Amino acid sequence: MYDRLNTHAVVEPFVIATNRHLSVVHPIHKLLLPHYRDTMNINALARNVLVNAEGIIESTFLWGPYSLEMSAVVYKDWVFPEQALPADLIKRGVAVEDSSAPHGLRLLIEDYPYAADGLEIWATIKSWVQEYVSFYYKSDAAITQDTELQAFWKELVQVGHGDKKNEPWWVKMHTREELVESCTTLIWTASALHAAVNFGQYPYGGYILNRPTLSRQFMPEIGSAEYGELAKNPEKVYLKTITGKSDALKDLTIIEVLSRHASDELYLGERDGGEFWTSDKEPLEAFKRFGKRLAEIEKKLIQRNSDESLRNRYGPVKMPYTLLYPSSEEGLTCRGIPNSISI
Ligand SMILES: [Fe+2]
Repeated sequence: MYDRLNTHAVVEPFVIATNRHLSVVHPIHKLLLPHYRDTMNINALARNVLVNAEGIIESTFLWGPYSLEMSAVVYKDWVFPEQALPADLIKRGVAVEDSSAPHGLRLLIEDYPYAADGLEIWATIKSWVQEYVSFYYKSDAAITQDTELQAFWKELVQVGHGDKKNEPWWVKMHTREELVESCTTLIWTASALHAAVNFGQYPYGGYILNRPTLSRQFMPEIGSAEYGELAKNPEKVYLKTITGKSDALKDLTIIEVLSRHASDELYLGERDGGEFWTSDKEPLEAFKRFGKRLAEIEKKLIQRNSDESLRNRYGPVKMPYTLLYPSSEEGLTCRGIPNSISI
């Protein structure tokens, strides 16, 4: 459910507000557009067959008809600025600010693959966005005077995420720094965060014993006949308790579909239209540098995975942490960061 709420659902209002208020030639429209590709389509599909009333999630997960209500409750605690990776790590108590550390953050668990790899990706997205924004906005006044940008932000906060409109944590969108941080957080959410929570679903959850979706009976009480059966044959009782065969088959089929990359997927550092998405030279150059830096990060991550002292990357099953490798082939690859939430 994390994948669906914290990425798919929260990004949708950004897509709508962008399309309503930023013209297609607006620089921020051009910046964000690749990160919206296919998101409305996949969300519409999910509303029809996956998260709908009596749909796949409701019929095969423990929470049944309350599944979506659970999501709605979790959304009450959603805080957009905390989806920035550094803020998220600090909030979860796994990192502290440290100006002497790379990215200004010291990980309390150094060998935490998602955090270590994620910080590289986060920093790279941020420096690309910074270069891009500083080309088009030479002062903070240029932000406040940009009526399209102001209308976009207003709709996002007051209508799109209207249930949250009175939250004090929304930035006012008065400075370049606020624009950079907000765009970085949005791009991170649509790309790397989604990739990290989405494409690992099959290798882990595709084996239903790792993560049954429901329990068909209560834990037996000591002294009951069921308890006697459990003591005698725990495996048999376990199989009678977890997700049944036909639901399990349904779940792992859908998890497999959700974990695959389409053949026409575009990954971080790529975009449609080759060099023709803008005629401005400096942003084009900055975008090329962004792509190069991502390729370098990928090499670095491959090296990390061959370092046997980093045991959390590998584990006893010898499955390296590849979810934040930026590139991928088509299919079930457990790697690759698509630009957008498209599955
Ligand atoms: Fe997804």
